[in-house]
Amino acid sequence: MSEHLKTELIDGILTLTISRPEKKNALTGAMYNAMSEGLERAETDSAVKVVLFQGDGDSFTAGNDLADFSAQSVANDTGDSPAFRFIGNLGRATKPLIAAVQGNAVGVGTTMLLHCDLVYLADNARLITPFVNLALVPEAASSWLLPARIGHVRAYAMFALGEPMDAATALACGLANAVVPVADVRSRAMAAAVALTKRPAGSLIHTKALMRDHQKIAAQITQESSLFKERLQTGEAREAFAAFAERRAPDFSKI
Ligand code: COA
Repeated sequence: MSEHLKTELIDGILTLTISRPEKKNALTGAMYNAMSEGLERAETDSAVKVVLFQGDGDSFTAGNDLADFSAQSVANDTGDSPAFRFIGNLGRATKPLIAAVQGNAVGVGTTMLLHCDLVYLADNARLITPFVNLALVPEAASSWLLPARIGHVRAYAMFALGEPMDAATALACGLANAVVPVADVRSRAMAAAVALTKRPAGSLIHTKALMRDHQKIAAQITQESSLFKERLQTGEAREAFAAFAERRAPDFSKI
C-alpha cells in the first residue's frame, strides 16, 4: 500500500496509477512495493487478465526518488531494495503489461517499458535513461534489452550521454505501438487492455513466454543489480545525488 500508488481492478484490468505529481511521480520504496504487490497479485489472481501502468500529472515518472538513492548511498545496505523487488517482478511477469506514458519517463520509467507488451506514448513523452550521469549503471535488464531493440549506438547515447528520446523516435525504433495526443493516451491504452481481456488468457501467457528469454533477463538483472548496488556506494554517485539536491551540475573531476 502507498498513498502515491492507486490500484484498481475492473473487468480483469488491474490499473496501477503512479500518483505523486508534485514530485514528477518519483518512486519511493513504498511505491515500488505497492507496484510489486500489484504484479504479484496478477500472477496469482485469475481475475487479473492485464496490468496497466499509468501516471498522474505531467510526467509518467521521474524514476527512482533521488533522495532515497542518496540515503542508500551512505547506508551501506546491500540488501534487496523495493526497486529490485519490482524489477524482479517485471522480469518474471507472465500476464500482459501495458503502459500509457505522458511527459518524462526517466530511469526505471523507461526501462520498465521494455517489459511491457503494449506501450502507448503521448506526443510529449520523453524517454530518458541518465544512469551514467548519476554514476550508476542501467538496470531492469535494459543493458541487454535496449540495445537489442534499438541498436548499440542509440542505446549507448541514452545510457552514457543521457540523451532523451522523443515519442516519434521511440515509435520509429519499435519502443512503442502508437503516439497519440496527451488527452487520448489513457483511453488508447485502456482500449488495448479491454481487447486483451477478450483474448484467451492461456494463449496470451504462452505467447508472451515464447517471446521473452526469461532466463537471460533474470541473469542480466542479477549482473546489473550487483554492479548497481556497488555504484550506489561510490563517491561519484554521492556527488551526482548531491548535485541534483543542490540544483547544480555534478563535478566528477576530483573523485
Ligand atoms: N527524485 C526526487 N525528487 C524528484 C525527482 C526524483 N527522481 N524528480 C523530480 N523530483 C522533484 C524535484 O526535486 C522537485 O521538487 P521540489 O519542487 O520540492 O523542488 C519536483 O520534483 C519538480 O521537479 P523539477 O526538476 O522542478 O521539474 P522539471 O519539470 O524541471 O524536470 C525532470 C523534471 C524529471 C526532468 C527532473 O526533475 C529530473 O531530471 N529529475 C531527476 C530524474 C532522475 O534522474 N531520476 C533517476 C533516474 S535513475
